[in-house]
Amino acid sequence: MNKSLREIDLTHKTDKIRHHGYHRFYPIYLEHLRDKKFAMLEIGIYKGESLKMWKDYFPKASIYGIDIKEGYKYDKGEVFKGSQADSKFLGKIVKEIGKKVSFIIDDGSHKPEHQILTFNFLFPNLLKQGGIYIIEDIETSYWKKGIYHGYTVKCGYEHKNNVVNIFKRLIDNLNKEFISDNEIKYPKQIPTEISDDIGLISFQYNSVIIIKKDKSFAKFENRKYRFSKYM
Ligand SMILES: C[S@@+](CC[C@H](N)C(=O)[O-])C[C@H]1O[C@@H](n2cnc3c(N)ncnc32)[C@H](O)[C@@H]1O
Repeated sequence: MNKSLREIDLTHKTDKIRHHGYHRFYPIYLEHLRDKKFAMLEIGIYKGESLKMWKDYFPKASIYGIDIKEGYKYDKGEVFKGSQADSKFLGKIVKEIGKKVSFIIDDGSHKPEHQILTFNFLFPNLLKQGGIYIIEDIETSYWKKGIYHGYTVKCGYEHKNNVVNIFKRLIDNLNKEFISDNEIKYPKQIPTEISDDIGLISFQYNSVIIIKKDKSFAKFENRKYRFSKYM
């Protein structure tokens, strides 16, 4: 039988499991990929422990990583050195990977502006339809002032760049069939063509999980709402 994420972590000891307890949520969205051949990308590698954890969890996956610090050599995948805040660099890695991936996880700088910039680039350009995108450690969105990995973070509960606030507002886009067009207040930080491609948003402890629409969504789109007389 497959080991659980928590059991796998007994070997790799990442803070994803022992500190944040993400194993309580991630399997709900990731378990179906366990025995599949697919590609994934993690942003933020540090010593490579999470890449090893993913390799044990997804034994058939091609695993890629990005880190701004010296390329950690991971023997079963590829790590690119560069910043997640540099769209030129992101464009280069999209080219180098050369195929769409089914899973992207952002455990990099944790600066809210970087998390959004990276999402806006990789969600449309690298993630497959039906793919999963996780933004970890969104705790920084609640910081009024702090420093993480050398970056100053200035955000806060109601700040316009608070990642949770931005995605909270996109929940309305999931339900736009039921809402008059002029009532929705879209966050400016995510372009409409990207928000229109989001099929699911999940909020849980210290993370946001976003799933890209797959083909099944087309059947339920651009319909006239059957109770439109009540809008
Ligand atoms: C929390 S650690 C990653 C931990 C790793 N995912 C694990 O679970 O073992 C964050 C990593 O992000 C990297 N990082 C910081 N700023 C970055 C940036 N702008 N672009 C890419 N990586 C960055 C850091 O060098 C560090 O290795």
